[in-house]
Amino acid sequence: MTIISPHGGKLINRWSNEQPAVLPEDQIELDAMALSDIGLIANGAYSPLTGFLNKEDYESVVNDLRLADHTPWSIPITLPVPEQQAQTLGEAAQLVKDGTVYGLIKITEIYKPDKEKEAEKVYLTTERAHPGVKKLFDRPDWYVAGEIEVYQKPAYEHGKQFYLDPVESRELFQERGWKKVVGFQTRNPVHRAHEYIQKAALETVDGLFLNPLVGETKSDDIPSDVRMKSYQVLLDHYYPKDRVTLAVFNAAMRYAGPREAIFHAIVRKNFGCSHFIVGRDHAGVGDYYGTYDAQKIFSHYEEGELEITPMFFEHSFYCKACEAMASHKTCPHDKEHHMILSGTKVRELLRNGEKPPKTFSRPEVVEVLIEGLQKKPVEARG
Ligand code: ADX
Repeated sequence: MTIISPHGGKLINRWSNEQPAVLPEDQIELDAMALSDIGLIANGAYSPLTGFLNKEDYESVVNDLRLADHTPWSIPITLPVPEQQAQTLGEAAQLVKDGTVYGLIKITEIYKPDKEKEAEKVYLTTERAHPGVKKLFDRPDWYVAGEIEVYQKPAYEHGKQFYLDPVESRELFQERGWKKVVGFQTRNPVHRAHEYIQKAALETVDGLFLNPLVGETKSDDIPSDVRMKSYQVLLDHYYPKDRVTLAVFNAAMRYAGPREAIFHAIVRKNFGCSHFIVGRDHAGVGDYYGTYDAQKIFSHYEEGELEITPMFFEHSFYCKACEAMASHKTCPHDKEHHMILSGTKVRELLRNGEKPPKTFSRPEVVEVLIEGLQKKPVEARG
């Protein structure tokens, strides 16, 4: 049985069991986004990347959604440092966070990006109110490029069993005999609409790879530990165990909408998924992107070029007249029959201990969310 090839043809592995006896003196302090990026470069989730982008690749990604060698790639993966450090760094540096040395980078280039252009091209806005753009400008102004090696695996905050390297997820899919596997990205609890599109996809493929993003998110998103509990309770009650794998995607959220949908699909291909779900306003925030822009962007590439097959879904909801989950493709009724709640409204309800209706979210999930959110002070969420 053949499983989909990794992006670029080869699964990258930049884990190293041994820390070199002599480490370079320079240290680059990683932020949360860079820490998750080095783990995902090392484990091959970002294949074919072996490190942080050089200027040529960076500009090519920003302008053309491709690496310089023409391989599709949509989000610049960069390692920012302050100007002062950019001027003094040598040939290599330790990659450090909070006193722990995670790995090292062999520096090939240090360059100053045009961040206004990066924002405009990648996020389609330069407004600092956009959380991805804010993050871009909050990070230091110079980028360090080069291959990395990682010695220290990031902490398994959500339980080791949910951290699969692509090599492991690929093995698991093979063991389970799954030929067609659909990947699902989420930064939210799985509500009825998510469940509906996952199960609609599952009707035609062999397995579902439920792969919630658990890296840095904006502070009003539901914290990942609470979400992880909600996924488990949902799977326990409503999914066939032998058709679903739950594993974390330990990346930071960029909120780059269409561009991030491509990135999310490529990463899931590396995990071994043949298909990837893209629904309504994938990876979007506020009103920055049109409802289906993250679907339309797939036609930027030649048919079949990405190799992973996107599965597009319309905005889905519960329809009281149909007494079923539906979308405009399947339901003829007016919108007063449709149960649609905004993410903001749902979070507000949950934080006040109020339950969204059963037609929006499974009661078991709601219970976990209310309990989890009420335990957390607002400033501790992230
Ligand atoms: S995302 O930022 O990770 O995309 P979210 O967790 O809400 O946010 O969405 C996960 C996936 O489900 C995305 O592909 C998104 O487009 C899709 N989705 C979310 N809500 C709906 C909905 N009501 N109808 C159809 N697709 C949806």
